[in-house]
Amino acid sequence: MTEQAELSALLTETRRFPPPAAFAAQANAQPGIYERAHEDPRAFWAEQAARLTWAKPWDQVLDWQPPFAKWFVGGRLNVAVNCVDRHVEAGNGERVAYHWIGEPEGDTRDITYAQLKAMVGQATNALIELGVRKGDRVAIYMPMIPETVVAMLACARLGAPHTVVFGGFSADALRSRIIDCDAHIVITADGGYRRGTATALKPAVDAAIANLPEVQTVLVVRRTGQDIAWDEARDHWWHEVVERQSEDHTAEAHDSEHPLYVMYTSGTTAKPKGILHTTGGYLTHVSATHQLVFDLKPEQDVFWTAADIGWVTGHSYIVYGPLANGATSVLYEGTPDAGGRDRWWRIISELKVSILYTAPTTIRTFMKWGEDLPAGHDLSSLRLLGSVGEPINPEAWMWYRKHIGGDRCQIVDTWWQTETGGIMITPLPGITATKPGSAMTPFPGVGAEVLDNEGKPVDNGGAGFLVLTEPWPGMLRGIWGDPERYRQTYWSRFDGLYFAGDGAKRDADGDLWLLGRVDDVMNISGHRISTTEVESALVSHPAVAEAAVVGANDAITGQGIVAFVTVKGSVAQDADSGVALIAELREHVATQIGKIARPRQILLTPDLPKTRSGKIMRRLLRDVAEHRELGDVTTLADPTVVNMIDEKMRTAEDEEA
Ligand code: WTA
Repeated sequence: MTEQAELSALLTETRRFPPPAAFAAQANAQPGIYERAHEDPRAFWAEQAARLTWAKPWDQVLDWQPPFAKWFVGGRLNVAVNCVDRHVEAGNGERVAYHWIGEPEGDTRDITYAQLKAMVGQATNALIELGVRKGDRVAIYMPMIPETVVAMLACARLGAPHTVVFGGFSADALRSRIIDCDAHIVITADGGYRRGTATALKPAVDAAIANLPEVQTVLVVRRTGQDIAWDEARDHWWHEVVERQSEDHTAEAHDSEHPLYVMYTSGTTAKPKGILHTTGGYLTHVSATHQLVFDLKPEQDVFWTAADIGWVTGHSYIVYGPLANGATSVLYEGTPDAGGRDRWWRIISELKVSILYTAPTTIRTFMKWGEDLPAGHDLSSLRLLGSVGEPINPEAWMWYRKHIGGDRCQIVDTWWQTETGGIMITPLPGITATKPGSAMTPFPGVGAEVLDNEGKPVDNGGAGFLVLTEPWPGMLRGIWGDPERYRQTYWSRFDGLYFAGDGAKRDADGDLWLLGRVDDVMNISGHRISTTEVESALVSHPAVAEAAVVGANDAITGQGIVAFVTVKGSVAQDADSGVALIAELREHVATQIGKIARPRQILLTPDLPKTRSGKIMRRLLRDVAEHRELGDVTTLADPTVVNMIDEKMRTAEDEEA
């Protein structure tokens, strides 16, 4: 914890931003909410669940057999009905559900709730025709287009859990996820757009399912119109199969604990974990947090989560939370600089976006691009700004507030994880006086603590491990196919408490500051990547003997991947072949995992620093990668190794410069 303690000592923040009175008066969250939830958390969550439409009410709010929870036991509901049908039935069919903005300029579609209902009905009927039944897993590998949302909702409607795989993952990564959850159908598109070029998705699916006869069906949306290979027996065009279906589908209500989706995320081992979320508790959690944390007013707001649907942030706050609340959302296909570095600000001023939710990495990129870009556009429609995915440094927070929020908008820094399903630690707009860089306090009904090594809560001013002390409705119900790993990973570090894997500090007022991961998980631009996963990708290359990977501080992306690699004795090692090998290794990682996992830097070294028992000392390698004084080297088997690497690193960087 020493490094974290040092970090936390730097965080002394005295600025406070109390909510303006006018905002507080109209806010969804009103005083007393924390006290009420604290007195009776189950009653608080039940009140939130009652905002949904249940075909059969629950008999019991919570059945808690640690670490296994069942929420709203005995209740039945349909997620798609809650997200779509009920808004149409309530007379809001003409409200826009999504302003979809394709990456190519002018490629836009508005989709109302009534249209969404028709599209979901057709897609559900198409899935049935293609043989999908309740309980079957459906893999989705798509760009950011409306059909992605439609596909997810059709699965939810049928009760066929989806597993959405981020389109930036490689064919190999897609394949291992399809195999792990045993999906027999993949929904994809020919391609998507990224920075002006059409990327290929269908070819990656073809590669992923080669020699995988279990996958009998591929449903393909035509997005780019590029040429793709076609297997008549297996492949179906979306526009041929879906669009001829009836729009009507009578939905069955599913059990509150019926699986809704599996989302793979990196853990501390090489194998990603399939995080399982279920129906009633998850929808309650994302809908409640979306309504209270973003202060959503469905008749007025235009809400924009600028994230990819392929990550949990997209699932919870582009799809399920906003739709459950009848919100109007922006769905944008491209990168922040597609069509110019002011693309976002044009979107906000044209669509009068009122709530924006994004990651600190993106904010820091905008800082680098300069404040003139947002200043050139009318951003006065914005009233609330959110941040997620990594710690937000106070400078970025202040810049966001000033240059995007016009010193007027409330800012919510929200901490949560794939595993928690929805937001857990956050200010409540209208109530909390915020501090730049702090996620502040647990959401009502949520219990969080910061513990020291022995499991004792730290005093104010202290730092330690973040744990969650109470079950919550959106919590993961397990790891797909591996209940023991669920217990081991999250519930064994501190008995009976959920171990998040993050470090945190309590400041003098008791407010919470997130300090980053305390395990072998890196956070690159808000994406979770495991050091072990990258290491095993590197070691699978024939030239590599051993690899050690660390996440080193990076001014823009939070962390960057730095790899230390020793090559096999037989591999030639002059300077030119070294440069070529490094390039090859970076590409190798991209094909094994995806471009997001490509190391920022690879250092070829004859040896790695190890303890006498043979453990690689990653802590020292981080010191090297971050140009710090080397820490304690006395436990090393050969202390000269790390000095040699340190020197090599400096020479390599001098040469690059
Ligand atoms: C980190 C993304 C600091 C944290 C929703 C967590 C954060 C991991 C914050 C989960 C925040 C997320 N401040 N760190 N506001 N939000 N994190 O599963 O390390 O992709 O454990 O879920 O991101 O990443 P995941």
